[in-house]
Amino acid sequence: MIELRHVSLSYAGTEVLKDVSLEIRPGEIVALMGPNASGKSTLARILDGLLIPGSGECVVDGVSTKDDPLNARLQVGLVFQDPDDQVVSRRVSDDVAFGPLNIGAPDVEARVADALKTLGIEHLADRDIQTLSGGQKQLVAIAGVLAMRPAYIVLDEPTAMLDQDGTGLIMQAVAAAKSAGKGVLLITHDPDIMGAADRILVLKDGRIASYNAIAPTDADIELPGLARFWNRLGERGIKVDRPQLTVDGTVEVLCQLKPKA
Ligand SMILES: Nc1ncnc2c1ncn2[C@@H]1O[C@H](COP(=O)(O)OP(=O)(O)OP(=O)(O)O)[C@@H](O)[C@H]1O
Ligand SMILES: [Mg+2]
Repeated sequence: MIELRHVSLSYAGTEVLKDVSLEIRPGEIVALMGPNASGKSTLARILDGLLIPGSGECVVDGVSTKDDPLNARLQVGLVFQDPDDQVVSRRVSDDVAFGPLNIGAPDVEARVADALKTLGIEHLADRDIQTLSGGQKQLVAIAGVLAMRPAYIVLDEPTAMLDQDGTGLIMQAVAAAKSAGKGVLLITHDPDIMGAADRILVLKDGRIASYNAIAPTDADIELPGLARFWNRLGERGIKVDRPQLTVDGTVEVLCQLKPKA
């Protein structure tokens, strides 16, 4: 389990995260949403030990990142918001192999092949990363993290550059990670992928504002369109459950509504 315990973090005297506590358990998908500059990417960097909280702590499977940031780096695979931050090699397959080689994995080739296949990008293996499209780079960055086979995966707005097919591949990879008992944190604004989450957290002004995006306690939180839509239907007594947060789920329910006689 990853635990944030009363975590605060400041950049140059400005407090960005304020007393944040949360848990990500093995085998669950947690979605984290929140407005720009609310601290989501900062929180992601704390989870994998790149940033150490000013106060409070981040504990990964019982080990605080203060004592052993490297443990977090190995257990928690972080896919950065900007795939360019993740690139270390020119050739796609070398880039995906970089992490596993670094930890001395005996099965680097198999890991790379597996990760590329999972994301449907085997055909890009020999390409120069700098010549890839934004979405293709995003998939390569995710493949690099999958190849590390971490216990937890943190994806910082992974679908921002992706079309429906790319998003579908990522969500399949996320579902497979969940079935394999991994914990996943999905930072996202995309209501379509939020539907896959077991829990939805909202970060606002550096604090966790709500544990339930369907019925937020804080009316200021800007919910994505579909969540707002389901909220309104919920107020009118139409049963709301999480699968319906997806476009498909919503269409399904709308198709079943009977017109007024
Ligand atoms: N290295 C840094 N030095 C100083 N300030 C920073 C640094 N990194 C982030 N910040 C500031 O901290 C705040 C939170 O940034 P962060 O990137 O965590 O937000 P975010 O929720 O991920 O935003 P977005 O939705 O735009 O990705 C912002 O005001 C940002 O300008
Ligand atoms: Mg961010």
